Amino acid sequence: MDDLKWRVLPVLVLLLSSLMFYLMGSQKPSENGCSLLGDSHFWIVSNNIVTPKRVISGSVEIKGGIIVSVLEGYKARNKNQKVIDYGDSIVIPGLVDVHVHLDDPGREEWEGFPSGTRAAAAGGLTTLIDMPLNSHPSTVSAETFELKLKAASKRIFVDVGFWGGLVPENAFNSSMLEGLLNAGVLGLKSFMCPSGINDFPMTTANHIKEGLLTLAKYKRPLLVHAEIQSEDKDLLDANHDKVDPRSYSTYLKSRPSSWEEAAIKELLTVTNNTRIGGPAAGAHLHVVHLSDASSSLDLIKKAKSNGDSISVETCTHYLAFSAEEIQDGDTRFKCAPPIRDAANRESLWEALMNGDIDMLSSDHSPTVPELKLLHEGNFLKAWGGISSLQFVLPVTWTYGRKYGVALEQLVSWWSETPAKLAGLDLKGSIAVGKHADLVVWDPEKEFDLDEDYPVHTKHPSISAYMGSRLSGKVMATFLRGNLVYEDGKHAPVACGNLILAEI
Ligand SMILES: *[C@@H]1O[C@H](CO)[C@@H](O)[C@H](O)[C@H]1NC(C)=O
Ligand SMILES: *[C@@H]1O[C@H](CO)[C@@H](O)[C@H](O)[C@H]1NC(C)=O
Ligand SMILES: [Zn+2]
Repeated sequence: MDDLKWRVLPVLVLLLSSLMFYLMGSQKPSENGCSLLGDSHFWIVSNNIVTPKRVISGSVEIKGGIIVSVLEGYKARNKNQKVIDYGDSIVIPGLVDVHVHLDDPGREEWEGFPSGTRAAAAGGLTTLIDMPLNSHPSTVSAETFELKLKAASKRIFVDVGFWGGLVPENAFNSSMLEGLLNAGVLGLKSFMCPSGINDFPMTTANHIKEGLLTLAKYKRPLLVHAEIQSEDKDLLDANHDKVDPRSYSTYLKSRPSSWEEAAIKELLTVTNNTRIGGPAAGAHLHVVHLSDASSSLDLIKKAKSNGDSISVETCTHYLAFSAEEIQDGDTRFKCAPPIRDAANRESLWEALMNGDIDMLSSDHSPTVPELKLLHEGNFLKAWGGISSLQFVLPVTWTYGRKYGVALEQLVSWWSETPAKLAGLDLKGSIAVGKHADLVVWDPEKEFDLDEDYPVHTKHPSISAYMGSRLSGKVMATFLRGNLVYEDGKHAPVACGNLILAEI
């Protein structure tokens, strides 16, 4: 009897330990810490998967970071398949934000790649395109781009691509500009008014025309901040003592919609070059953060109908807020161009629903609280830029529901169209062969953005959204098949990829 016990026990222990190893193994995080999931081949099941054709109830099969099948009506094939069933929760492609300032290197105290990309993952964004300014130095040459890549390397939790800067220094210097493009920026960005950053000077229509000719060879876009300062600015400066700088209306008047209109009018003298057969055919012009939904938008519509290669984005803060609601002294809401009146906001929504505005972006542009808040509410001195990165999906959903936004539209504005602008063929939709970049969210779940809410950006208090109640909570974010965020938790290791343009 004794003899038998001593022979059976080791076998039992072995069996038990293999069973435990098996059970634990199916839940253990990935070996390299890139994912909160142990598997690289698995199925996501949901009754609401938004595919390019329609919303389906079915499954997305993921293998090695790629979507390998999208099927309507899931049936488990065998017990060993790893299946994550999200029920009625919505599954959409990860958001692609083409307008983000992460301020790294050089101004990491403003944001930085680690905190910015953690906030992105928590907000359902899987790809960000970082702007060439607010970091230091600005990204305007191959050398400065190298510094940017070094700063981002191994410190990003989502995929990040980069725009370079078109500035007077490089606009007519083709070796400098081509050096930057050859190094892999996805396109260029320029300003038609002072940018607020000393080493990022503004460009004229001549610089822009020249930039478009170079970009045509690379088939990459030019993004333009379209505002031109008029004489009203001098008038305001002259009357500085008479105006109340804490009043939002003072700020609003200091940047009228005529500035946007003047800039777009001037842009249109060169965009006709982008037409088929034109000298800059192949280049594309993209107007960032349109705020004025009247004359400025009409000009863009007309240019599109003439065949110019032009597109336009607006940002969530123009869709969520109105000038009437902004309290005097609340400089969290300062941005350029400014948030205009409620009637303008209605027109922006209408243009978006009609397809006259092509896509959305965050223009996440934070700074330190000292520069944003501590000028005693002085709108003329505070930093202009809104911190929003983690909230864009619920904000779009919360405010868009009123207008009957369809899930397909949301995906078009936030994933498909921005991916196309940035030239990212493998991003932006749930389809076979694409990167398995997915976000799972609950459209009905409401939450308050109060001080207890886990905000991952560096300075949550400066966000204009704090204090809001939103609906549409992000539950899980997958980046190339890695579960990088789930229920308030991030994967431990920053496994996002640097995205470089291919020559
Ligand atoms: C163009 O830029 C290069 C650096 O890329 C610089 O060496 C050269 O002097 C510049 N040329 C002119 C004419 O400014
Ligand atoms: C289109 O471009 C030509 C030169 O290429 C210019 O003369 C003309 O004024 C432009 N048209 C518009 C509408 O700006
Ligand atoms: Zn910006």
